[in-house]
Amino acid sequence: MFTDPSHDRRRSRRPFPRRPARLLSGIAAAALATALVPLATTGAADGSTASPERLLPYQDPSLPTQERVDDLLGRMTLAEKVGQMAQAERLDVAADPSLITTYGLGSVLSGGGSVPTPNTPGAWADMVDEFQQAALDTPLGIPLLYGVDSVHGHGNLQGATVFPHNIGLGATRDPQLLEKVGHITAMETRASGPQWTFAPCICVARDDRWGRTYESFGESPKLVRSLETVIDGLQGKPGHLGDNDRVLATAKHYAGDGLTAWDTGEGDYTLDQGIDQVSREEFDRVALSPYPDAVTKHHVGSVMPSFSSVDWTGDGLGNPVKMHASHELLTDVLKGQLGFDGFVISDWRAIHQIPGDYATQVETSVNAGVDMFMEPRTEGQTDWQDFVGTLTQLVEDGRVTQARIDDAVSRILTAKFELGLFEHPMTDRTHLGDIGSKAHRAVARRAVSESQVLLRNRRHTLPLKAKKQRVYVAGSNADSIGNQAGGWTLTWQGGSTNVVPGQTVLDGIRATARRKVTFSETASTPVPRHAAGVVVVGETPYAEGFGDVGGPQWGYDPGDNGVPRPAKTMQLSDADRAAVQKVCARTTSCTVLVVSGRPMILPASLRRQVDALVASWLPGSEGGGVADVLFGRRPFTGRLPVSWPRSVAQEPINVGDAGYDPLYPFGWGLRTR
Ligand code: GLC
Repeated sequence: MFTDPSHDRRRSRRPFPRRPARLLSGIAAAALATALVPLATTGAADGSTASPERLLPYQDPSLPTQERVDDLLGRMTLAEKVGQMAQAERLDVAADPSLITTYGLGSVLSGGGSVPTPNTPGAWADMVDEFQQAALDTPLGIPLLYGVDSVHGHGNLQGATVFPHNIGLGATRDPQLLEKVGHITAMETRASGPQWTFAPCICVARDDRWGRTYESFGESPKLVRSLETVIDGLQGKPGHLGDNDRVLATAKHYAGDGLTAWDTGEGDYTLDQGIDQVSREEFDRVALSPYPDAVTKHHVGSVMPSFSSVDWTGDGLGNPVKMHASHELLTDVLKGQLGFDGFVISDWRAIHQIPGDYATQVETSVNAGVDMFMEPRTEGQTDWQDFVGTLTQLVEDGRVTQARIDDAVSRILTAKFELGLFEHPMTDRTHLGDIGSKAHRAVARRAVSESQVLLRNRRHTLPLKAKKQRVYVAGSNADSIGNQAGGWTLTWQGGSTNVVPGQTVLDGIRATARRKVTFSETASTPVPRHAAGVVVVGETPYAEGFGDVGGPQWGYDPGDNGVPRPAKTMQLSDADRAAVQKVCARTTSCTVLVVSGRPMILPASLRRQVDALVASWLPGSEGGGVADVLFGRRPFTGRLPVSWPRSVAQEPINVGDAGYDPLYPFGWGLRTR
């Protein structure tokens, strides 16, 4: 239910419209007032602070965070407070960073694929530091938070270690590994500037037709909870958020993003951003249950609500409530019952889906408990500048209380203090050289190996004998690092032609079997005698609703260059199906690897020809990890994080369902050695 699926939202910008004079006077007045009071400077450009005797309480790192927050809050005007609650996109301020100063912006983000030129670690750090300096130039010098979707490593950054997407990490069942993945992700993110990642998605994917299934650790809330150790890796232990290898994490999307109904009776056939038509009990048991641990055990610093809605079936409400508008779930449950003391960041322009005019949307979401607003500019529509003016007016009109503003701003400031941004606002580049390092890639390679799920292994086909066997490789996803990385890699949607440093699955096979490898994507070249066949099939990249198995409106897909591609189907492409048939008919053994963001449908007629079948998921940059298990350097240990259906008609299918009869059940996985 995108507002305009045909409109690629990451690319449009609109000129700065004239703004109400009152707002600017708000900041200007603050500047004038504080200019009359000689404030201690925040110190040298490197962020080191001035001598203690000249520090104001909020500038004094020896004081408890709450004292510093209270002191700073007491010095802030309404305009400065509202500015802290606003987040712009990089493109909105890149041409004029002084907008950050003028509006006292609390945060800037990079949307998927919104990267500096050149897309290098140094350029990222320079960009973030330039925006940071603009924030420090405000009267109170409140540092900026820079957020990015490091959802499988710092995927937007060319050269970063790109880990398997969450569905593959779910197959590892390895909480300790997840903590390492989180730590490396944090190190590579923070060293390049951003101090905040919009990750992990702790969604519970219940219908594999959902385009974000691959962002989930799996269909079981218990499995998802067990892997929230990734938050510990991202943030470090309490008190370490200020370290140069940690970032603020975001538990998302709160809650029920993966529990939406395929057909709500309106004939809409959509999943992403849809409606949870479930009982309150099921919502709590499936969608909500990952959050208590994320909040109380892993101390996640921010939470992002879901675009989706809840519609308690059987409670007679009958009208779906947007998560961004739910006071009950954002304030009573999340902040009240669960005791969440971080801040709530809205999703991308999500409040525009709330009924009513813009003022009503802002009023509803602020009062529901959203604290910071991701309001990037979009052609001809309201955005962060309108947000600031609108919220200021709502407070002046009494529709939003000062207490609510102070609560939101206190939460935001607390995160900034705990990140150490007042003492060290500029990027600490100590680990810049570790980005994409051999050591990091070795961990990613291990994650790839542990994520491989051996579904079938007739006649002990696997592991292959590298030294003795010739290997014939085919299939669309054998030699495409863009396809094996999937969405949120260099660009929002990812892309088959996207290239990051690393190894494709074929590279890994070649590095092992050396001269004995023949590759033909379409299996059109002759097959050597006695060769073992490996066909790597799967999906092309996508993100969010563009990955939904298409109902009528999901025919649109931005593709690599805006040329629409057919909607997703969970079926093998004709080319892949043909490659399997050709290879399996001519080789001594036939192994099929499925490189995809979710289970794919393998008809019985095809399966009969296949000796070994592996779910490889979206391995990311280290395709060599697939070869490690294929040739027995590492054992197969992976287990299905989602049920593998016999047909799309079985969806949604989840362990525990009545009449549960998948092709391969949740938790399935053969082991070798
Ligand atoms: C997107 C996604 C969210 C992401 C945000 C910023 O709409 O729903 O997961 O963090 O925008 O890119």
